[in-house]
Amino acid sequence: MLIFVKRRTTMKIGVLGTGMVGETIATKLVALGHDVKMGARDAGNDKAKAWAEKAGQKASNGTFADAAAFGEIVFNCTAGTGSLEALKSAGEDNLRGKVLIDVANPLDFSKGMPPTLFTDSNDSLGERIQRAFPETKVVKTLNTVNCHVMVDPARVAGGDHDMFVSGNDAGAKGKVTEILRGWFGWKNVVDLGDITTARGTESYLMLWIRLWGALKTADFNLKLVK
Ligand SMILES: NC(=O)c1ccc[n+]([C@@H]2O[C@H](COP(=O)([O-])OP(=O)(O)OC[C@H]3O[C@@H](n4cnc5c(N)ncnc54)[C@H](OP(=O)(O)O)[C@@H]3O)[C@@H](O)[C@H]2O)c1
Repeated sequence: MLIFVKRRTTMKIGVLGTGMVGETIATKLVALGHDVKMGARDAGNDKAKAWAEKAGQKASNGTFADAAAFGEIVFNCTAGTGSLEALKSAGEDNLRGKVLIDVANPLDFSKGMPPTLFTDSNDSLGERIQRAFPETKVVKTLNTVNCHVMVDPARVAGGDHDMFVSGNDAGAKGKVTEILRGWFGWKNVVDLGDITTARGTESYLMLWIRLWGALKTADFNLKLVK
């Protein structure tokens, strides 16, 4: 099997998003030795500036467009309701040909908790992003777990549980699978198929939120058994 991304390869990575997910992923990537630029709507975003100052020499910040242009690979860690807007301001040219790891969920919190999905069962945010950016290789993954589990699956059951990838480009999914395994430590990665399979993982959030309430912790995940 062709290994696309070696464990120790240093890359330039753009992280779009200044929330807890963007910060957690960006911090992990810097700890792995990568050069990371965090993007926000505003180049002077306080959270992104504070993160870059704290995270050290390999960390920087800028606009969504700055981060997308910088990254050889780009993570979408923006609010689902703002993702298309954020990616439009990141710029089609800056995303063309690149792998976009989409961890966002189509959650609508406008009516309070629990949130609803703003997509219906015949669509997903991952598909909307792929349709809007046909020359970008969108891979939906990591959206089914809390951000701390995303970058440290061993914190739940020693890492013996499952992560999904959805996307149209087999090479991009292979690259993302190597990232999940080699950088973040995921042992079990299930290729669900094309980007339409993101409908399943995004709508799982309706159950995830109820499990979070029932279990009183965000440190859990699915383990598949046959
Ligand atoms: N929390 C988790 O553990 C978890 C787990 C799985 C998936 N997710 C998903 O990961 C994503 C990030 O979650 P989060 O809690 O870290 O952050 P968040 O508060 O959902 O999103 C913050 C980011 O979204 C951007 N944003 C918000 N509205 C926007 C708009 N209208 N136009 C452009 N950009 C906009 C913000 O830009 P500025 O920086 O400019 O303000 C900020 O960078 C979400 O889609 C969430 O559903 C979260």
